[in-house]
Formats: sequence, C-alpha cells, structure tokens
Amino acid sequence: MGREVADIVRRGISSTDPIDLVFVTDEPDGPVQGIPVIRPTDLRPSDKICFAVGSSDDRRTLSVRFSHQPLATIVASTAIVSSSAKIGEGSVLCDYSVINNSALIGRHFQGNSFCQVSHDCIIGDYVTFAPRVSCNGWVHIEDGVFVGAGAVIRNGSPGRHLRIGKGAVIGMGAVVVRDVPAGASVIGVPAR
Ligand SMILES: CC(C)(COP(=O)(O)OP(=O)(O)OC[C@H]1O[C@@H](n2cnc3c(N)ncnc32)[C@H](O)[C@@H]1OP(=O)(O)O)[C@@H](O)C(=O)NCCC(=O)NCCS
Repeated sequence: MGREVADIVRRGISSTDPIDLVFVTDEPDGPVQGIPVIRPTDLRPSDKICFAVGSSDDRRTLSVRFSHQPLATIVASTAIVSSSAKIGEGSVLCDYSVINNSALIGRHFQGNSFCQVSHDCIIGDYVTFAPRVSCNGWVHIEDGVFVGAGAVIRNGSPGRHLRIGKGAVIGMGAVVVRDVPAGASVIGVPAR
C-alpha cells in the first residue's frame, strides 16, 4: 500500500511545487524504489504524514501514535471528487476512485482503485474500501468498517440510510442488501 500511495504522490508532484517524499518505519532498511526510508524520530514537526496501510485498526493505532504530526490527504489525479463532497484529513483516494455529490467521508479513509462512494453517503473514520467497491447512495458506514474487493452495497433512501455498523467486515464480492450490525462479518449474494 505504501508503494501504491507513493506512486500517486509522485505523479502529483509538480516542478513548481516540489515535496520530499519519504517512507517512515521503525526499522529502516535502505531506500525503496528510490524513496528514502527514515525513522519516526527523523520526522520534522511540520512533516505531513499519511498512514498507507490497509488495516483500519493499524491506521487507528498509528493516528494515536503520530497525533503530533500534521496529516496529508492524498487524492490521485485520476480520482473524481464532487465539489460538494467532504473528505476527512489523512484519507487516501486511489486511482479512478469516485466520490459523488454530498458524500461525507471521515478521517483516514482508504479508497482503493476504482471504488465508488455515491451521493449522500456518510462514511466514518478509518474505513477501508478495497478495489472496485461500489457503495450506492444514502449508505451510512460507521467507523473502522472494511469492505472487500468488488463488494456492492445497496442504496438507502432519503431519511433512511442503509447502515453498516462499526467495525463490520464485508467480504469480497458480497452484495449487501440490508443493514449490517456492528462487528459482524458478512459474505455472499445476498450478504449474510
Ligand atoms: C470475508 C473474509 C474477510 C473472510 O476471511 P477469513 O475469515 O480468513 O475466511 P477464510 O478464508 O478462512 O474462509 C472461510 C470460509 O468462507 C469462504 N469465504 C471466504 N471469503 C469469502 C467471500 N468473500 N465470499 C464467499 N465465501 C467466502 C471460504 O471459501 C471458506 O469456506 P469453507 O469453510 O467452505 O472452505 C475474506 O475472505 C475476504 O473477503 N477478505 C477481503 C479481501 C480483499 O478484498 N482484499 C483486498 C485488499 S486491498
């Protein structure tokens, strides 16, 4: 995930607005694809940081550990984000992700390639969308939910969002047609 996010950042760097891109890890082991690897203690107070890891729980842990650092929000040049949508700090939107009208996305969201968050969705903090997730309109996804590759979530309706409870796991390829309780794991078509 770190290398994928680094690719997105490198493509977005312009010669008029250069930035120094580094990986941060507790046990640096030489540069990765030409990018220096540093220790957390080498970070300067003004360095912006983004947690490029797929696990929602790990992003939450890291956000506490590095709460003193400013956050970078990374949006791929190929992503499409409605001007009426709001994206929380520290989030990553990978290539060809689409965030539609009036979607509200929390902090440290990770939207992988080709995922979609449709109109009027509310997405909590530390939510992960694997590639090609399709989340239709009026869906409320609570904090820490993981949605597997290619899963499809049915739309809610005005005044009645379809709700995915805190920390739930949606398996790859699932078709979610009703609310999912907090902490549940669901798979299949329809998801159970
Ligand atoms: C749902 C999921 C979290 C379950 O993981 P797990 O607890 O390790 O489950 P297992 O692999 O042990 O599988 C348990 C059973 O469920 C089945 N199963 C697993 N995932 C499934 C899925 N998405 N749809 C249907 N069946 C699934 C397995 O075939 C197995 O069935 P069996 O007991 O009859 O052999 C996982 O399979 C999944 O979908 N992860 C998402 C992966 C992904 O999207 N990665 C993208 C990274 S960016």
